[in-house]
Amino acid sequence: MKILAIETSCDETAISILECSGDERLANFRVLGNALLSQIDIHKEYGGVFPMMAKREHAKNLVPILGAALEEAELLHEDTQALSEELTTTLGELLSREFELAEQLLEFLKESEIPDIDAIAVTHGPGLEPALWVGVNFAKALSLAWNKPLIGVNHMEGHLLSSLVIETDGELVIKDIGLPVLGLLISGGHTELVSMDPWLSYRLIGQTRDDAVGEAFDKVARMLGLPYPGGPEISKLAERNREDTGTNPFKLPRPMITDPHCDFSFSGLKTAVMYLVKGKEVSELEKEQLAHAFEDAVAEVLWKKTARALEETGAKTLALGGGVSANTHLRRYFAQKISEEYPEVALFLPDRAYTTDNAIMIAIAGYYRALHNDFANSQTMIANGNLALT
Ligand code: KG4
Ligand code: ZN
Repeated sequence: MKILAIETSCDETAISILECSGDERLANFRVLGNALLSQIDIHKEYGGVFPMMAKREHAKNLVPILGAALEEAELLHEDTQALSEELTTTLGELLSREFELAEQLLEFLKESEIPDIDAIAVTHGPGLEPALWVGVNFAKALSLAWNKPLIGVNHMEGHLLSSLVIETDGELVIKDIGLPVLGLLISGGHTELVSMDPWLSYRLIGQTRDDAVGEAFDKVARMLGLPYPGGPEISKLAERNREDTGTNPFKLPRPMITDPHCDFSFSGLKTAVMYLVKGKEVSELEKEQLAHAFEDAVAEVLWKKTARALEETGAKTLALGGGVSANTHLRRYFAQKISEEYPEVALFLPDRAYTTDNAIMIAIAGYYRALHNDFANSQTMIANGNLALT
């Protein structure tokens, strides 16, 4: 089954086309086309992502990205198609708030053959709602124009399932996964522990009560005068300081670490850093030491809560997903802790290419949804910024 997937929930505009086969015991994925445009350089200037700006960028880029993905997959063939007046009107209405996108899309549809794909998957939440809507409306328009079924994908399910992938000989495979799967999903907008058992059936085990962990990385980075996104910058400084054998004068709190639940809190940690740097000239060495102390605190809290959740759920598999799972120290720390304390649990750390937002993960989750016959209604599908995993 060929799935074309669209991701616009935050600051990456991405479209991928995957050939998918198999079932839950053994699923195979081949990436036929993958086009992604990051808006990071645009948002960097403002120190964060503004939803309306992200939306405008998605609208501008979706058609070119679609063309690039189809071309790479060798599914783009020129044709001159007359679009019916009815379809032109419907698409115009659907994309009425994105006039330029509507124009570009109609032009594209007139010039190209209906591609040989079987379904269209799109992220319908969670994320920035205006950004999500562009992707959802674009997917609806393609579904109507090409007469292909539509699948709504939860972005977090994409992060979780794609982290179960192993790559062998250029083929992506998900196989022999022991349930329950415990997912630690850590990104700029989310910090949650979810258990999956059976497949695609979720239970929320714990979540942040305030800031997401990625958000804490970004805010602490800003306090240290580092650019957005802060995670990779903090990581660089912290890694440099880990090679330094001197003692670290900074000690940071581990919020809620011994509380008898699996929830997190990161705003106190962020505030603790703020008090340490407020009104001070912070030297390069001190920045490195702070980054180091911050990462240690984050890793320890994330691990302790995850260990508690492993006990609570009896999970056989632990999967990390989301942008923060790219963090070098966190990956090392979790690998070490699992091998020391839970060697019977299979640990999955996503390939770095899959940690940040992409459409490959949306195609993968879309395929599992298709296996469960969970298709969306293109008339009623909506974007939901707070969509939960259920
Ligand atoms: O999953 P993602 O790409 O987008 C959201 O859905 O939010 O995650 C982005 C977040 C940002 O907060 C970024 O700072 C963080 O992931 N991040 C990292 C690293 N790379 C990205 N945090 C810590 N260490 C990293 N290496
Ligand atoms: Zn994400």
